[in-house]
Amino acid sequence: MSNWRELLKKGTELLKAADIDDAGFDAYQLLLTFFNGSTTEYSLYCYEAVNECTEAEYLELIERRVAGEPLQYIIGKWDFYKSSFFVGEGVLIPRPETEELVEKCIKIIKKHKLSVVYDLCTGSGCIGLSIAKECPEVRCFLFELYDNAFSYAQRNLREMNLHNVQLIKCDVLKKFDGELPPADLIVSNPPYIESAEIKSLQKEVLREPHTALDGGADGLVFYRAIYENWTEKLNDNGFFAFECGENQTEDIIKLYAERFDSVAYKDMYGNDRIVISEKL
Ligand SMILES: C[S@@+](CC[C@H](N)C(=O)[O-])C[C@H]1O[C@@H](n2cnc3c(N)ncnc32)[C@H](O)[C@@H]1O
Repeated sequence: MSNWRELLKKGTELLKAADIDDAGFDAYQLLLTFFNGSTTEYSLYCYEAVNECTEAEYLELIERRVAGEPLQYIIGKWDFYKSSFFVGEGVLIPRPETEELVEKCIKIIKKHKLSVVYDLCTGSGCIGLSIAKECPEVRCFLFELYDNAFSYAQRNLREMNLHNVQLIKCDVLKKFDGELPPADLIVSNPPYIESAEIKSLQKEVLREPHTALDGGADGLVFYRAIYENWTEKLNDNGFFAFECGENQTEDIIKLYAERFDSVAYKDMYGNDRIVISEKL
């Protein structure tokens, strides 16, 4: 029978042998799903024996990771901004870069005292729900087309128990003709990877839904459609806030130039990844 420390070593070695980046981190995160306690408690009790059933279940999770399933899907929840979001097959895993987009939106909302926000392509709901939680005075409308992603957004909304959020199933590539108050801010992290690039992505990313990644031949299909279909839903002096791929900010700024004054911002790695456009 192994103790927790020995089991972690075994998990790490199996992941290393399978060339998993951050093998030690992943093995530890998976171990913590069985160890009911904090990381401090782990260091206190790591020499205690683990029962055989837990050991077998842990090694099953390690096998799933070896087979290329993303860590976050195996754990089933992932931290983003100030909350934890349910994630799994069919929904994009929230990324740390996107937290910067959320921060920018919250600053704009507070500075301009905005009251209605739309989050297009909401996925897990991580952007819109984080904004709604941080700005309870704001009404947030979250839009998503695909069932799997939509059901994760619903589950996350229920878990966060927010009363200022409405989820709407719709295709953001088309005009939306439902009755809603016009938006002061429309935020979106849409699919933006060029179709031809998809097959060269990391194997874990390829386990995420292609419908969350594929932005068409030039990666800009959603930014064009959002300009065409959603500009009229935005109040005068309202804002679009986008996450996009590296090298896309200039194209987006050009697309929006006729009716918007736009600025590009860098992410934590120094890449231009955010565009904020103010309606003229
Ligand atoms: C890049 S993911 C972003 C998810 C989430 N906002 C985030 O930042 O983690 C894009 C999302 O757009 C959704 N989506 C793709 N095509 C769509 C469409 N035509 N209408 C609405 N949502 C769409 C995908 O299902 C996916 O959830």
